[in-house]
Amino acid sequence: MPYYRAIGEFPRKRHVRFRRPDGGLYAEELMGEEGFSSDSSLLYHRYLPTAIVKSEETDGAADGATTPNQPLLPRHFRTGELPAGGDLVSGRQLLLANDDVRICFAAPRAGSGLYRNSTGDEAVYLRTGAARFESVYGAIDAAAGDYVVIPRGTIHRWIPAGDGTSTGATSTGGSAFTEALVIEARGHIRPPRRYLSQYGQFLEHAPYCERDLRGPDGPLLADGEDEPVLVRHRDGLSLLTYARHPFDVVGWDGCLYPYAFSIADFEPIVKRTHAPPPVHQTFEGPNFVICSFCPRPLDFDAESVPVPYNHHNVDSDEMMFYVGGDYTARKGSGVGLGSITLHPSGFTHGPQPGAVEAAIAGLAEGRTSTDETAVMIDTFRPLRLGPASQRTEDLSYAFSWARGLSPGGA
Ligand SMILES: [Fe+2]
Repeated sequence: MPYYRAIGEFPRKRHVRFRRPDGGLYAEELMGEEGFSSDSSLLYHRYLPTAIVKSEETDGAADGATTPNQPLLPRHFRTGELPAGGDLVSGRQLLLANDDVRICFAAPRAGSGLYRNSTGDEAVYLRTGAARFESVYGAIDAAAGDYVVIPRGTIHRWIPAGDGTSTGATSTGGSAFTEALVIEARGHIRPPRRYLSQYGQFLEHAPYCERDLRGPDGPLLADGEDEPVLVRHRDGLSLLTYARHPFDVVGWDGCLYPYAFSIADFEPIVKRTHAPPPVHQTFEGPNFVICSFCPRPLDFDAESVPVPYNHHNVDSDEMMFYVGGDYTARKGSGVGLGSITLHPSGFTHGPQPGAVEAAIAGLAEGRTSTDETAVMIDTFRPLRLGPASQRTEDLSYAFSWARGLSPGGA
């Protein structure tokens, strides 16, 4: 994380005695990245964070197998056709994956149990609804449009609004059910390095800054014994039972913690002529990037073409999740809100037939802005298809560009 936060109580110096009101010692825990050589936080527990009483292997088969994108095709999936159910951890439906990242859809209807992903950071993007994120660092109320970035190893749980299990404190007022895109990295998800000073402060050219990041709002304490925590690790899933509830942190400080960032707080960067996706970049992970396409003024040169040019990013597979507004370049392709397109390396993609002409005509008619909102993930290794994407594929999409060339075609 780019900057320091402090929550609750902690001692005046690191690694000194810190006593509970009853005279016993709080248990200090360092959560740190890259072997004591990167960001970290110090957490102070009421009980030992090491005290587990049981560990059981649990079934990870529900994750589903993936198949290669073979024969190579651009693809279109409709997440709106996927069933709702489960929670934001157990209800994940695998869309796309490679060795660097797993991308899932979830439409939870229940609160999750305690969960720790020890394979990497997660970024959960809420397309609709609202959810409360609760963790050892504290809670964050998240709503539609929020990314919640969760550092590897953070024990947490999710409580969607409107599921019947929420308390008054969890209500965020939304009536829509929660739908989320879950990005599980095999490493860390961070702001792009080029947005930061050498010491980690967001620079002036960055499209967002520290004030846009919402951290946990205070210590979150819960009582309980024999608390199960689902742990995702390299070899699968295990259920570890903790002697005491892991939410026992009275205070912490440091630069590593979960946070939320709303896509509505991304300040779009525009040019006179079309700007490529790096201006939309929001986060970076190991061998992938996450970009946010947000409502913005259209390109404003008198001769501008305000949609993307045909392009072939030879090193990338490109996944686009259409989350709001009207995406001009995909008109006539069947792509709508909740759609996901996959444009793989090896395939040149671009606007649908007629989209360029329509966009230019729109400028002439006085259209000056776009309301399109999309989340894009570009990976540097091919994405394989998971069960959820194969189940909802629109098989006509791959040939929609050629179909539009026919007289009268859309
Ligand atoms: Fe593209």
